Amino acid sequence: MIKKCLFPAAGYGTRFLPATKAMPKEMLPIVNKPLIQYGVEEAHDAGLTEMAFVTGRGKRALEDHFDVSYELEHQIQGTSKERYLEGTRKLIDACTFSYTRQTAMKGLGHAILTGQTLIGDEPFAVVLADDLCINLGGDGVLAQMIGLYNQFRCSIVAIEEVPMDQTDRYGVIAGEMIREDIYRVHTMVEKPKPEDAPSNLAIIGRYILTPDIFDVLRDTPPGRGGEVQITDALMRQAQSGCVMAYKFKGERFDCGSPSGYVAATNYCFEHFES
Ligand code: G1P
Repeated sequence: MIKKCLFPAAGYGTRFLPATKAMPKEMLPIVNKPLIQYGVEEAHDAGLTEMAFVTGRGKRALEDHFDVSYELEHQIQGTSKERYLEGTRKLIDACTFSYTRQTAMKGLGHAILTGQTLIGDEPFAVVLADDLCINLGGDGVLAQMIGLYNQFRCSIVAIEEVPMDQTDRYGVIAGEMIREDIYRVHTMVEKPKPEDAPSNLAIIGRYILTPDIFDVLRDTPPGRGGEVQITDALMRQAQSGCVMAYKFKGERFDCGSPSGYVAATNYCFEHFES
């Protein structure tokens, strides 16, 4: 059974400067809730209870967010404002939160490897909080993927079709469709130019990984951008064993870009605030 979810959250968020100068990008709010809380809620809804964060310098607000704030809670106790903290309190009561730091920015693969100390030797989920995923009225993306993991018992990446001229923003897969929306991966490339892309099936920030990925990552040389790429490690796992790609149900917003962030804000305001 998968219990742990890893949140790589060490990045600087340069695209949102100056907002992210003194505040982690994962704390940017979509309406009134920080991005990271959407990710933790999705993991909790999928039955995961052990939240593991790879953070870095300047990210302490993440730890404070998932902790009791006695003074504040005392102030609003017994008032109508208490309800604003209900969702956060529920997560704090139901889950554990652990943190480790990545001291040098060497890529997503390196960040995930840094998380090994929190994960140990068991399969786990990974959520990139920048990718906000919402499936109104249905299971969240991680819950959908955990259902698949229970069938296939191998690493799984979430994918969606993107316009061909955007392949250089994503890891891109190609594979054999074995069922509707499920592919057995043959090839994966990190951020290929459109002319080099094997398809327009882009990886989005949800993964289920088997723990042998750590040994593969340790042995994966820096790739695109001089960084250790999880895409390269997964390609090796696909070659020596099996990796599945899953076209998930729901909407995905790239909240690492201002346009995706605004779209997510409008969507959440429309669907959750009325
Ligand atoms: C990372 C991964 C990439 C994936 C993307 C999803 O890239 O390296 O393969 O498609 O997340 O959001 P980043 O967006 O961190 O550059």
